[in-house]
Amino acid sequence: MTTTHTLAVERLTLGYSDRVVISSLDLVVPPGKITAIVGANACGKSTLLRSMSRLLAPRAGHVLLDGKQVHRLPAKQLARTLGLLPQSPTAPEGITVADLVGRGRNPHQRLLSRWSREDDAAVAAALDATQTADLADRSVDELSGGQRQRVWIAMALAQQTDLLLLDEPTTFLDVSHQVEVLDLLTDLNLTRGTTIVMVLHDLNLAARYADHLIALASGRVHAAGEPAQVLTQECVRAVFGLESQVIIDPTSEKPLMLPIGRHHVTTRPDLGLSIGT
Ligand SMILES: Nc1ncnc2c1ncn2[C@@H]1O[C@H](COP(=O)(O)OP(=O)(O)OP(=O)(O)O)[C@@H](O)[C@H]1O
Ligand SMILES: [Mg+2]
Repeated sequence: MTTTHTLAVERLTLGYSDRVVISSLDLVVPPGKITAIVGANACGKSTLLRSMSRLLAPRAGHVLLDGKQVHRLPAKQLARTLGLLPQSPTAPEGITVADLVGRGRNPHQRLLSRWSREDDAAVAAALDATQTADLADRSVDELSGGQRQRVWIAMALAQQTDLLLLDEPTTFLDVSHQVEVLDLLTDLNLTRGTTIVMVLHDLNLAARYADHLIALASGRVHAAGEPAQVLTQECVRAVFGLESQVIIDPTSEKPLMLPIGRHHVTTRPDLGLSIGT
C-alpha cells in the first residue's frame, strides 16, 4: 500500500521567455484519487504537469509535495515518490524495451548498488500489466506508436511511485488499449492507493475514469470537481468553444458529451437525455 501524499500548487505562475502560460494558479490534487485534467490545445496542461514534476521552475508561487517545494527536492528523491509520463518522451536510440522499462528503476538504485530481484519483479510486473512482455527484446525505435506508448507507461509503472502524473497516456492507443490502460490505472489506484493525475483529450473517458475533473482554460481553472458537475454544455462551450449535448452514459451513468458540429445534426433534437445547460 502506498503512503498518501499531498500535492498542491499555490499561486503558481509558469511561462517561457516572454510568454506567461499559467498565471497565479491554485490547485489541490485529491490524495489517493484519480484526477483528470482537460482543456484545449496550448492551454497549459503539459506545462503544469512538467512543473508539478519539477521539470519547469515556477516564475512565481510553489508546487508543494507534502508541504515541501518540489523544486527544492533532489531529483532522485522526488522520483521515488512522483513519476511523470511526459507527452512526447524520447528514448535513447537503439534501446530495447526491457532496458527502457528498467530505467524506471533508476530512482530506487543507490550509487554502485546492483540490480536487485525487486527491480526484476517491478519490471516484469510493468511489462505484464501493459501487455508488452512479448516486446521485451525489441528495439523501442521499431515499435508501432501504440506499442511504444504502452512501453512508456510500463516504464512509469516500474518506477512504482505513490503519485503518477501522465500526460495523455492514451495517445496513439486503439480504443481497446485506451480502456485497458485506464482500467489498469484504476486498478493501481484501487489496490495500491496510487494518486493519479492525467491529462486526457477524450472528455468522455476523462469523465468516466476520474474522481476529480479539472477543466483548464488559458492556464486557469474554469471548473473542478466531480465529473457530473464539471462536464456540462456550458463548460464545453467555455473551454473548447464547442456546442455539444451532454447526456448520461448508459454504461457508467457518468456524463457523456456529444459534440455538435456543422454537419450531421439531427432534425430530431428530442432524441437523447440532456443534462446541464
Ligand atoms: N518549451 C517551450 N518553449 C516555449 N513555449 C512553449 C514551450 N512549451 C510549450 N510552450 C507554449 O506554452 C503554451 C502551453 O503549452 P502546453 O504544451 O502546456 O499546452 P497543452 O495544454 O499541453 O496543449 P496540448 O493539448 O496541445 O498538448 C503553448 O502556447 C505553447 O506553445
Ligand atoms: Mg500537452
